[in-house]
Amino acid sequence: MNDKELVAHQALQYVSENMIVGLGTGSTANYFIDALAKRNKEEKLNVRAVSSSVVSMIKAKEAGLPLLAMEQIKEIDLYVDGADEITSDLTLLKGRGYDLVREKLLARSAKKFIVIADESKIVKNIGDNFPIPSEVHPFAWDLIKNVLIKKGTGDIRINAAKDGYAITSCGNFVLDFNYTEKDAEKLNAFLSQTPGIVEHGIFYNLAHGALISNNGKIREIWKT
Ligand code: A5P
Repeated sequence: MNDKELVAHQALQYVSENMIVGLGTGSTANYFIDALAKRNKEEKLNVRAVSSSVVSMIKAKEAGLPLLAMEQIKEIDLYVDGADEITSDLTLLKGRGYDLVREKLLARSAKKFIVIADESKIVKNIGDNFPIPSEVHPFAWDLIKNVLIKKGTGDIRINAAKDGYAITSCGNFVLDFNYTEKDAEKLNAFLSQTPGIVEHGIFYNLAHGALISNNGKIREIWKT
């Protein structure tokens, strides 16, 4: 079992009968989806899942997990997802994918949000390894870029084929920026208060715990 798979399996211990479970997006979350589907089938747990992206929805469907639409939930029992960066106080950077809005909605509505990742995701400051993504209304992207450029450097995200702009599942554009400010609390407040930004990649005060693997060993970080 590799490190990502290991933490995905460890997260299963937080699943119990009749839960509504939020499914993350990415390679680590994929291991959790497969493991959850298997356990749900074998132990007849009656778990229902809500996906954070079209990709995780397809993955869950293929694995045989019963799915609920976002419109059908008021809150969820558990959300298990990966992250792009994690600090020691459990601030996260997410959104290298295109589903920031769904991911943060699930994180906020979960009674328990557990992050699963390998040690490579641990950073001192959010933004150390990746630019911080902001999902923006398409008509406002240049206006918002003009605001963000005063705080750092970055640009609109280009799609994988490199022939146009990347479009999120909500139909928005993404601005990826490196900021001179390193304090995640201040950056979180700034981005949250900037009109036209639908959602951004700093997950501040949302995760309850993290399962981190390193060469076959797992350490846990919990919010105190
Ligand atoms: C998706 O938008 C991100 O927030 C993911 O959680 C992140 O990219 C983790 O992916 P891996 O598990 O593949 O590293």
